[in-house]
Amino acid sequence: MEIVKIEQIPYHHTWQLRHEVMYPDLPFDQIKLANDMEGTHFGLTVDGRLTAVVSLFNTAGSYQFRKFATSTSLQRAGYGSALLKYLITYTQDRAAAQLWCNARVSASGFYERFGFVKSGPVYIENNIDFVRMELNR
Ligand SMILES: CC(C)(COP(=O)(O)OP(=O)(O)OC[C@H]1O[C@@H](n2cnc3c(N)ncnc32)[C@H](O)[C@@H]1OP(=O)(O)O)[C@@H](O)C(=O)NCCC(=O)NCCS
Repeated sequence: MEIVKIEQIPYHHTWQLRHEVMYPDLPFDQIKLANDMEGTHFGLTVDGRLTAVVSLFNTAGSYQFRKFATSTSLQRAGYGSALLKYLITYTQDRAAAQLWCNARVSASGFYERFGFVKSGPVYIENNIDFVRMELNR
């Protein structure tokens, strides 16, 4: 049976999956965020292998998550859901006023399953459609 774990990871451990899943065409250095060092980063491992990552940023109790990525060959196997549930509980435990993200429109159906609602217009950045989505308390 596989062993699945979720734990905090150093920010630079998110970079490889972030690059390979979300921006394979960009130079590696461009997937780094200027404020990565200020975030809290989580990784889901399957039998010790890093399989999904997400980065969380707290501004006065409003938590934004960014760069959510599950290894391409292991998507749609429930790992993203496990990590998102973990984030929801983690922020609830910290009395977050809000958990939100700028979602890729292509992933909005995934977030809606957890109660996130669209809260702004669709906009385009680097040829990708985005929409803000929030889970309010
Ligand atoms: C979005 C993402 C993080 C979801 O992770 P995942 O590990 O594939 O998610 P899960 O396997 O837990 O999916 C849970 C359910 O949501 C569905 N789902 C997954 N991705 C979806 C999507 N893009 N749109 C709609 N539904 C989606 C799955 O089909 C699954 O449903 P099922 O249980 O009925 O089969 C992952 O697909 C990913 O890395 N995508 C590419 C990068 C990306 O777009 N990141 C999000 C940026 S905002």
